[in-house]
Amino acid sequence: MAVKAVVLAAGSGTRMKSRLPKVVHRLAGKPMVQWVLDALGGLQPQETIVVVQPGADLVVATLPQHVTVAVQREQMGTGHATRVALDVMAVGPGDQLVVLPADTPLLTTAALLEMLAIHRRTGSAATFLSADVGDPGGYGRVVRDGWDKVTRIVEHKDATATERKITEINGGVYVFDGELVGEALSAIGTDNSQGEYYLPDVVSILVEAGHTISAHKTSEEELSGVNSQDQLAEVASVIRQRINRDWMRAGVWMKDPSSVYIDAQVSLEAGVALFPGVHLEGDTSIDAGSEIGPDGYLRDTDVGSDAKIWYAVIRQASIGTEAEVGPYVSLRPGAQLLDGSKAGTFVEMKNAILREGAKANHLAYLGDADIGEQANIGAGTITVNYDGYEKHRTVVGKGAKIGSNTMLVAPVEIGEGAFTGAGSVITKDVSDGALAIERSTQTEIPGYAARRHERHQRKKAD
Ligand code: UD1
Ligand code: CA
Repeated sequence: MAVKAVVLAAGSGTRMKSRLPKVVHRLAGKPMVQWVLDALGGLQPQETIVVVQPGADLVVATLPQHVTVAVQREQMGTGHATRVALDVMAVGPGDQLVVLPADTPLLTTAALLEMLAIHRRTGSAATFLSADVGDPGGYGRVVRDGWDKVTRIVEHKDATATERKITEINGGVYVFDGELVGEALSAIGTDNSQGEYYLPDVVSILVEAGHTISAHKTSEEELSGVNSQDQLAEVASVIRQRINRDWMRAGVWMKDPSSVYIDAQVSLEAGVALFPGVHLEGDTSIDAGSEIGPDGYLRDTDVGSDAKIWYAVIRQASIGTEAEVGPYVSLRPGAQLLDGSKAGTFVEMKNAILREGAKANHLAYLGDADIGEQANIGAGTITVNYDGYEKHRTVVGKGAKIGSNTMLVAPVEIGEGAFTGAGSVITKDVSDGALAIERSTQTEIPGYAARRHERHQRKKAD
């Protein structure tokens, strides 16, 4: 028995009032349609078709390799969209056709598996997910007969006052018998308030032909659709709670999970501690014992074990074991902190490496630089890496001590164990173990203050 799948994504999503197509909006860093495809992945479908509108390049671009795209030229309804999919995917006896919308990112594999199990056990011609909800407004309602058997689904717009009182709604997620679905789809008409081919009409068509239809009741949450920005935010919040709950169950400590934001692709080890205001995005990974936050934005960044990072903005960087970052640090792409190194208060780094144990404790800019093991970068040090045309590299040797407020005018190399005097503008390489100092000799004018004061008093008296 093969599962084949259709994801309906050709709606216009106008209620989002967004420049982006609805289903490419991201939830925890992952496009909406991908959440649905991932839930579907748990059924291991043999083939998956995603139905899109003409010109939906942005949607197609986010889709994974293994899915096939079918274009629905005109939005003539969910029944029509399903038929468009079957034009490019053969479905027949022994197949089970799963159809679902692309805008229900909270749907889980577990609910889909239950639907499929019930479908198989009952030998139904179709099985769909339903839910009892407090406010069924807008949804299709599940109509049952006196024996509680599903007879049809009626759309809100077509429902009578009595039917609108039904609180069991159609979730829009179905599995159909592959042998029966094609013919039933062809039998759908457009005699309804919207003049559209309604996919749910397959239910009454199959019932009238003497087949059994099952509805599997699941939670309202599973079936929440995203049609507007406020629903997007609500669904994002549920996804965030699920992600945080799973990480806490895996041994991650969070002081306040309501203020921790973790993308779907992030990986964490047990024993990671997350304080409030932490955002972990993209391909970020954090090893055991590391503490992040309060406040931190980490994107595409690897953090080793037992590191400490707080009040920091970090992109495409890597941070070693027991390294320290922050507070108030900006690590830009290519920043690398090896084990035991430190980028302290108000330090910015870009395409620069702090080797093992090297420290820049306060107020520094390190760009295009290689800072040797155990070297110390004094407060106010700047790598002058840009001459207005090109970037140049600074190399600081192992154990070197860069005095406070040193300008390292690149390209320049400071030898191992060398020193630079505070306030120096270093434009030439410095040999191993040497002190380079570049500043005028300090002179002193004794009694200056008193003479200045006298001068002022005399002027006033004149
Ligand atoms: C649909 C169901 C309704 C159910 C609800 C659950 C129909 C007629 N009604 O209503 O019973 O309660 O879902 O959320 O199916 N789409 C296309 N092509 C089209 C029209 C829609 O691909 O021509 C896609 C949309 O992008 C969307 C999905 O199909 O992903 C559902 O369409 P939508 O218009 O949102 O249907 P609902 O009014 O929500
Ligand atoms: Ca919808």
